[in-house]
Amino acid sequence: MSDGDDASVVADFYARWAALYDRIATAPGIGRWRRITAGRAAAAGETVIEMGCGTGANLPFLREHVGPTGRVVGIDIAGPLIDRARRRAGEYDNVSVVRADATTMPVRAADAVLATFVCGLFEDPAAVVDRWCDLVGPGGRVALLDATASEDPRGRPLNPLFNSFVAAGSPSGGLRDVLYAPVGGTEGALSRRVDASRAALAARTVDRRHETFGLGFVGLLSGTVQRESKNSGPL
Ligand SMILES: C[S@@+](CC[C@H](N)C(=O)[O-])C[C@H]1O[C@@H](n2cnc3c(N)ncnc32)[C@H](O)[C@@H]1O
Repeated sequence: MSDGDDASVVADFYARWAALYDRIATAPGIGRWRRITAGRAAAAGETVIEMGCGTGANLPFLREHVGPTGRVVGIDIAGPLIDRARRRAGEYDNVSVVRADATTMPVRAADAVLATFVCGLFEDPAAVVDRWCDLVGPGGRVALLDATASEDPRGRPLNPLFNSFVAAGSPSGGLRDVLYAPVGGTEGALSRRVDASRAALAARTVDRRHETFGLGFVGLLSGTVQRESKNSGPL
């Protein structure tokens, strides 16, 4: 999402569905993925930025990993989601939430960046991930958790259902997209964006880990930004 129109469509969509989104975001089972993802990004005493923090479902896990001497900053563009995230952050004195666009650089420095279920919303995810790698610099960590259609033999039969779910949850989607989703459509765009974000991260990092959860529908790529960080190889 590079321009203001796209950003406001996304912000309005999530603002409208804040309460429902929070229920999905904190559903049983997802917490395990969030704790693992937080641990790939955050370490004790460090500053971690969560891009597109939504209702703040990751914030307690990030706080767990940075401990009392670190710092966690959540960034999001959608007001009502931020209100909920701020309520979660309020439990800790070293966790804060800021309203800003994660595709431009709203902060100057950080040890790590985390983004969960966000990269598929960006118009040019590779450029955004590149900026995040620049932000943390050599030695810094970036972790991306995203959902795409499954390549796991156990998950593949459920891909049509997943496509409908993606279409229903897409800020720019409509009923037509939901009905046509099982035979293709919205999910293709999501996968392309997620793949682009992962390729960008792979090009900039070493010590990468690629993990999958939930029958292969959810993938986590994490890595450490290297010194000369262009085209370091496959995932
Ligand atoms: C699918 S939700 C994920 C929320 C949260 N990361 C989670 O895992 O529950 C996507 C979030 O990204 C936020 N978002 C989308 N584009 C953004 C941008 N350019 N800057 C900041 N936040 C953005 C939305 O407002 C929304 O909260």
